[in-house]
Amino acid sequence: MGYESSLLSCIFFLIFSSLLLLLNSHRVPLPVNLQSLTALSFEDAYTQLFGDSNLMLLRDGKTVHISLDERTGSGFASQDLYLHGFFSASIKLPSDYAAGVVVAFYMSNGDVFEKNHDELDFEFLGNIRGREWRVQTNVYGNGSTGFGREERYQFWFDPTEDFHNYSILWSKNRILFYIDNIPIREVVRTEAMAAHFPSKPMSLYATIWDGSNWATSGGRYKVNYKYAPYIAEFADLILHGCAVDPIDHLSTCRGHETKLYDSITATSDQLSAMKKLRRKHLTYSYCYDGDRYPTPPPECSVDPREAEQFEGAGSGRSGHRRRHGKRRHRAAAAVAAKDL
Ligand SMILES: *[C@@H]1O[C@H](CO)[C@@H](O)[C@H](O)[C@H]1NC(C)=O
Ligand SMILES: *[C@@H]1O[C@H](CO)[C@@H](O)[C@H](O)[C@H]1NC(C)=O
Repeated sequence: MGYESSLLSCIFFLIFSSLLLLLNSHRVPLPVNLQSLTALSFEDAYTQLFGDSNLMLLRDGKTVHISLDERTGSGFASQDLYLHGFFSASIKLPSDYAAGVVVAFYMSNGDVFEKNHDELDFEFLGNIRGREWRVQTNVYGNGSTGFGREERYQFWFDPTEDFHNYSILWSKNRILFYIDNIPIREVVRTEAMAAHFPSKPMSLYATIWDGSNWATSGGRYKVNYKYAPYIAEFADLILHGCAVDPIDHLSTCRGHETKLYDSITATSDQLSAMKKLRRKHLTYSYCYDGDRYPTPPPECSVDPREAEQFEGAGSGRSGHRRRHGKRRHRAAAAVAAKDL
């Protein structure tokens, strides 16, 4: 064989094997490195929901500012619905006096399923000067709005000074809420939880609005528009999920993608970091609210150390009135936060 022909066969071999690799990469799920996903720009994946000029795009749509002033709040949503995936944003909250201000980063399908919607929430509740913002998470499935699964946390950093990452991993059997890549909450689907585990495609939302009548000390401290506009900054918007057509709800998602998300679990290091964090910063959990749920709901895996933390705390620590307005940006409204 001449030099040319062996070179040719070499080239053919290379082309052939890269083709094989390409084909295979569609079938063999590669483990997703959640930290290395690419952010999408606003135009590519999102759409404004409300608040006309109170939504501003910066850095070619890689950063989004939504603001609240005396006229209106503001918000945006993903263009697609997603069945499972990883959803994340870097968020910087408004500084200074922010009582009554609510910023929400959440998934919901309240527009599609009015009576039996699913929802996964991060909600940030503003505060009076000198008191910190608080963050709460919640999970609803198939319209379980009468069955709150709230948890509330203190921040271990100033969320108004810098951007921090807030992420939700949602798979068929597990939900993880992360802050700066540390899980703060894990919900593992149990048989008993049944349809209360979110199972229908959801959109991703980001909103800022006036929660004067419930958000801070149960409505005692209202939004003061002297300090407006209140601006929440969003960057590193990541959507990595099985997109579903909003019209016919057909999924482009094949079975292996669903399996892929299901295979992502918190590492043992992450779980021990989560435990530590919760011991220090968890201030309320429905799992330890004996006044509300005399026996902890079935999915609660009661941690004795956490239980000790909340012994005798009961419902007095918080109110549970859930506002559930018709307007889409109100969909994330959650419990009244009576405790500061
Ligand atoms: C937040 O996520 C972005 C994008 O994934 C990453 O570049 C950045 O380092 C993360 N920041 C923190 C504080 O974890
Ligand atoms: C979800 O809610 C709907 C409407 O309330 C009900 O008909 C359906 O049976 C529920 N689904 C499951 C799996 O429980």
